[in-house]
Amino acid sequence: MSKILTSTFAFAATVGLALTMSTTSVSANEDLIAEGKIIFEETAGGVGCASCHGMDGSGDIGPDIRGYDDLDVSAAFNSVFEMQFLRGDIGPGSRKMKAVGAYIESLG
Ligand code: HEC
Repeated sequence: MSKILTSTFAFAATVGLALTMSTTSVSANEDLIAEGKIIFEETAGGVGCASCHGMDGSGDIGPDIRGYDDLDVSAAFNSVFEMQFLRGDIGPGSRKMKAVGAYIESLG
């Protein structure tokens, strides 16, 4: 095999690997967002975040939180009295917290 052909194959393999990796992480993130949507709309604390922040996250009893992330949600758990009852359901750093954070971030 010529040198050019060999390096072309090496390049193609690298690009292929990079593409595979990015596709995997995009779909993992989509899974997280899909989980977060259910938590947001229905399951968080048995009522869903939507009951206070609106079905589209644009605000109702609570403020507009579109574009916020899991760290903002953790911070809110530490400071917002109305959200204390959710602590048992959604722990700091948990998958549920990451999922709901990814979902509201995707709304921004
Ligand atoms: C019982 C009502 C209620 C529920 C349910 C609720 N929130 Fe809140 N949330 C509030 C209120 C009220 C505030 C604003 C408090 C303030 O500004 O003093 C707030 C604030 C926030 C903030 C901070 C916004 C800012 O401007 O700093 C975030 C982020 C947030 N909520 C996310 C969530 C998420 C995610 C859920 C679901 C897991 C949720 N909330 C469920 C009432 C609620």
